[in-house]
Amino acid sequence: MKLLENYITQHGTVISDGVLKVDSFLNHVIDPKLMQEIGKEFAKRFQDEQITKIITLESSGIAPALMTALELDCDIIFARKRKSLTMIDQLYTTTVYSFTKEQSNEISISKDFLSQDDRVLIIDDFLANGQAALGLADLANQAGATIAGIGIVIEKSFQPGREKLLEAGYRVESLARIAALKDGKVSFVRGSNR
Ligand code: G4P
Ligand code: NA
Ligand code: NA
Repeated sequence: MKLLENYITQHGTVISDGVLKVDSFLNHVIDPKLMQEIGKEFAKRFQDEQITKIITLESSGIAPALMTALELDCDIIFARKRKSLTMIDQLYTTTVYSFTKEQSNEISISKDFLSQDDRVLIIDDFLANGQAALGLADLANQAGATIAGIGIVIEKSFQPGREKLLEAGYRVESLARIAALKDGKVSFVRGSNR
């Protein structure tokens, strides 16, 4: 997605050890017009999949998931990292280990809102090692839902996440695919822009 690549090139900052800072439009400030275009692009790619629910992970997945849901006319559910005060419901729960942060998080979704009748699209902001996406897929599988695919805003293609998700049999659509983050510069996977 050319617009997103331009944003990354113009407003992203390469932090050492392969981390891209995008606080000015995705992870801290949220640019609504960009997010709307992201929603339209995901919706276009998954329009024939009869999606009934989008699932994501709080917090940075919510904005792109919401704009996609608006286009596909469905609800989003964000998995929670902490148990809510009011969450007396039964939960689907799994553990997500972050290699980046070197910590584990329990993530959960109420059993009230996801069932075997659902066709789910998983959306997240970043794909690095794939643990968050696999965790969301685990929650959907616990519900007996069908997973139609995984939509990622920014994929770090030099990390193993994409391969793991493909190996697990999922369709992966990433709007920007980063080949390398070197010498302060972002390079994209050739031919991945459409
Ligand atoms: P994984 O799910 O693909 O295995 O990724 P990992 O555990 O390594 O990522 C942990 C957190 O760091 C996630 O956010 C993920 O989106 C984010 N992340 C990973 N690589 C980058 C990067 O290069 N740049 C930025 N900006 N973020 C990255 P999170 O902990 O779920 O937080 P939130 O932002 O969603 O609240
Ligand atoms: Na994040
Ligand atoms: Na995230």
